[in-house]
Amino acid sequence: MKNHREPPRSASALFPPRKNRQRWDDFLTRELALATERVAKGAVTPTLDLARFRSELADFDFRTPRPMDELLSWTITQLEHGVVHVTHPRYFGLFNPAPSFPAQCADRIAATFNPQLATSATSPVAVETEAYVIRSVAQRLGLPPEAAGHFTTGGAEANYTTLICALTRSNSNFATEGARAFDGPPVFYISRESHLAWLKISHQAGIGRFAVRLVNTDGSGRMDPSALSGMVASDRALGRVPVMVVGTAGTTNAGMIDPLVDAAEIARTAGLWYHVDAAWGGALIASDKLRGTLVGIEQADSVTIDAHKWFATTMGCGMFVTRHAPVLSSAFQVSTTYMPSNVPNLDPYVTSVQWSRRFLGLRLFLSLAAAGWTGYSEHVEKSIELTGLLRQHLEARGWSIANESSLAVLCIRPPGDYGEVRSIVSRVLASGRAWISVATFEGIDIIRACVTHGETTPENIRELVNALEAAR
Ligand SMILES: Cc1ncc(COP(=O)(O)O)c(C=O)c1O
Repeated sequence: MKNHREPPRSASALFPPRKNRQRWDDFLTRELALATERVAKGAVTPTLDLARFRSELADFDFRTPRPMDELLSWTITQLEHGVVHVTHPRYFGLFNPAPSFPAQCADRIAATFNPQLATSATSPVAVETEAYVIRSVAQRLGLPPEAAGHFTTGGAEANYTTLICALTRSNSNFATEGARAFDGPPVFYISRESHLAWLKISHQAGIGRFAVRLVNTDGSGRMDPSALSGMVASDRALGRVPVMVVGTAGTTNAGMIDPLVDAAEIARTAGLWYHVDAAWGGALIASDKLRGTLVGIEQADSVTIDAHKWFATTMGCGMFVTRHAPVLSSAFQVSTTYMPSNVPNLDPYVTSVQWSRRFLGLRLFLSLAAAGWTGYSEHVEKSIELTGLLRQHLEARGWSIANESSLAVLCIRPPGDYGEVRSIVSRVLASGRAWISVATFEGIDIIRACVTHGETTPENIRELVNALEAAR
């Protein structure tokens, strides 16, 4: 006769007994550590045969349960060979981080307790912790003590949040009537070198992609302030309704910082919301030596910083900070009977885009608590030194640098007889020796190398230079 106290085998795989969990946890910890070591010694780029992988994937019919240890090993092997290794010290990439160890611990802790951060009633400790970290970041930014905000999935969500805030603050009927509330089409301003998720954001916000006004740059990747003020005036004359100016502190391709003070002044004079997208450049707030580079950011109405970029937390983890905390409650307020609390300016589900949410802020809390601002200061300063070293090596071999960034990215141009940048980059990627990318800076194709990995060494920089030389 069947013993009804024994759960069926398949469900027990979801909620295994403690001793099995312990065994698999230990196994996973050990295997991941070994895989991490192998990754650092191997190719940066994927080496797996995708056709073979697809056929193995097709063997999962999800009818026959498989043993957990076999599944864990299989998954680690596939990832070890099947992704670009952003954790590799020769990944000179798109800011995806080699995650800090405290951030990895935070993920594990959050996954175990799995707190629901929608409300302070359900997760008081987690909500307080996140708010505390946001206040500390706001303070380093030079924002007033009443500044507030929240963690987001990344920079795009934080930038979306600011557009909703700007529209809501500009016209209180936007909440109920959307774009129809305005006397003309609402528009906002970013430079041509900004991150173009703004187009999607504008689309999502219901004001359309034409609302994104691309301001000319000054030839070195920074927004041209006179072009900005001219555009605001001519848009007004045409019946458009300007709502926001965005300054970028660290353009994606070239790490250029818009003239933040001038842009703040233009926004203030025109009565517009001023946002600074410091998704990656914002990490400079950690360094007393370098934070002056961001002067003007303290005048912002709101700021985006990604913890998962130069702050090296696991993905995805961004931050939205504003000096006008109450606008978050007007933009995201909703009242329900089924949520355990509904506290404006506090409960994340009524002050942000998300509803159910993960305890993302623990990653930056533990990283800051373990390393301090000093640790992060060393981290960003070292990146910038290594970027300088890369520049020296390249210039000594006849390569040139198209951008004059104070951040950790170079837009590299090969010597005239080395051929197209696309072919050079393809050959470097095929070699597996480093990961770099092709981008366009001020209309020119360049090779982009970003040195934000916390474990990159001078030796890794030399290896990149050799890989580039070998790819001519
Ligand atoms: C300046 C800037 N803003 C926004 C974003 C979008 O951030 P995320 O990818 O975290 O959504 C990026 C991404 O690279 C960026 O560089």
